[in-house]
Amino acid sequence: MAENGKNGTARAGSVSIGGRAYTVVDHEYDVVIVGAGGAGLRATFGMASKGLRTACITKVFPTRSHTVAAQGGISAALGNMGPDDWRWHMYDTVKGSDWLGDQDAIEYMCRDGIPAIIELEHFGVPFSRTPEGKIYQRPFGGMTTEFGKGIAQRTCAAADRTGHAILHTLYQQSLRNNAEFFIEYFALDLIMDEGVCRGVMAWNLDDGTIHRFRAHKTVLATGGCGRIYQTATSAHTCTGDGGAMALRAGLPLQDMEFVQFHPTGVYGAGCLITEGVRGEGGYVTNANGERFMERYAPSAKDLASRDVVSRAMTVEIREGRGCGPGKDYIELHIEHLDPKIVHERLPGIAETARIFAGVDVTREPIPILPTCHYNMGGIPANYHCEVMTVKDGDPFTPVPGLMALGEAASIGVHGANRLGSNSLLELVVFGRSATNRTVAQIEPGSSHKHLPNAGEAAIARLDRLRHASGGTGTAQLRLEMQKTMQNDCAVFRTTQSLSEGCAKLDRVFDGRGDIRVKDRSMIWNSDLMETLEFENLIVQAQATIRSAANRQESRGAHAHEDFPDRDDKNWLKHTVVWVEENGRTRIDYRPVNLQPLTNEVQSFPPKARVY
Ligand code: FUM
Repeated sequence: MAENGKNGTARAGSVSIGGRAYTVVDHEYDVVIVGAGGAGLRATFGMASKGLRTACITKVFPTRSHTVAAQGGISAALGNMGPDDWRWHMYDTVKGSDWLGDQDAIEYMCRDGIPAIIELEHFGVPFSRTPEGKIYQRPFGGMTTEFGKGIAQRTCAAADRTGHAILHTLYQQSLRNNAEFFIEYFALDLIMDEGVCRGVMAWNLDDGTIHRFRAHKTVLATGGCGRIYQTATSAHTCTGDGGAMALRAGLPLQDMEFVQFHPTGVYGAGCLITEGVRGEGGYVTNANGERFMERYAPSAKDLASRDVVSRAMTVEIREGRGCGPGKDYIELHIEHLDPKIVHERLPGIAETARIFAGVDVTREPIPILPTCHYNMGGIPANYHCEVMTVKDGDPFTPVPGLMALGEAASIGVHGANRLGSNSLLELVVFGRSATNRTVAQIEPGSSHKHLPNAGEAAIARLDRLRHASGGTGTAQLRLEMQKTMQNDCAVFRTTQSLSEGCAKLDRVFDGRGDIRVKDRSMIWNSDLMETLEFENLIVQAQATIRSAANRQESRGAHAHEDFPDRDDKNWLKHTVVWVEENGRTRIDYRPVNLQPLTNEVQSFPPKARVY
């Protein structure tokens, strides 16, 4: 039976689990992309435009994906505002990563970023413009010229709504190239067969049917898992669904201990106020009105990398110099800027500050706090986006049929800390890269291996949760997890906080045995969907806190107060972590690649940090 309006190969059947019948619809594609943010859409449109039969599965309408919230911009050494060079961008990215970045992947990203952005411009992204009509670029933290000597203006901006502009353009291009969308479908699990990924199972939230997507390549572009924390700039949909599917397939995640806290989340609400604010001349002060970043980063000041600014703000608050009656926030100023600049370049944050902080940015400072923003860690992959695991001592064992990109992945370009505006860049560069690799490997329309009962374990898992009749609501367990992560695994960590956090999270994990789902329906059952999302979050919270407890040094975003120094002798390596069915973890390591991709650039060996 063909499904309405979809490709002709779709057929429906039925699977019985515990006496309950589930309608299962089968589809066959060359490529299935899970996620319709910037990474997913760039890959979707890329693959579709090359003649591959391409499906994109997304749990929200594509233009509501979290990329829409990206504000400040996308980096690339275009040199529109002064001299620039992709090698300087590469150096900044390696240094920003605290030398945990893989230099082959970083070279690839910084070089390919230039054509990738010109291409975006040609696709129709409405970038802001210089008076000569070039793409406008603003300064962002950690972006320098001449290997650290000057400040680079490298971040291409569409006012402060750059993600919005890119996402809409990529969706339009995907439709133009006849990609097929499965919108408001929730991905359940990968279809694995003898170590090879053969597709993915999904639940259609709108009509309750289950869908079995067979594909030669399954691409996970599902975003990060910021919602393991109580306060995050991430949307509530950022539940790391791809990372959890990888873990359930017996694959590891990489570098999960490195969680970025953005210095300027709105106090109380957590909404993002772009770093572009400081790029346009904004600055932060403590309760004494002091521009304290001058003490912590005498050279870069307010434009030091995010880990540095977030730690400085936290120290100011801890030492009693926080603002307000509770002395518990910092102030961000743009009152001194020309209102015309605010109107033209920062209209979105002016609105956000008004709605969420009750502040008129042209007259008063914005109350801000470091807020969970980005997962540097994720599914380990190379710069072709091919997923890697560690097997029999080989840290580069490929997982055939499976790709990962965007925040869901750990391609190694951010290492221990990501520079602002390298995230949007990563999405488009690696969306292109995944396309190129797939086109070189897949014969369009080739047949699929016969796997008649594939995916039944995923349906059984859904059925078990749908009928869970314990005494604990999902929201209660989720809140305990989020509070634990917020208190015990935040900007600063200690041996004690991490060990207490691990014990608390084990209790939350074990509490799943008593979970309760009240709604038994299959159509728009948000109770069940939130429970599936919680299942995805809790394993990644476990992976994050255990990896943090294991790393006995401070590097990038991992500031361990009992091990305050970076330790290259023992810890210049990626963590890989598996989460077992009982919630306990197993840890191993992968080497950091300090070798660039080509001989057009020197390697950057680790050196001491100076800001
Ligand atoms: O501050 C911002 O606009 C965020 C950018 C980013 O995370 O790359």
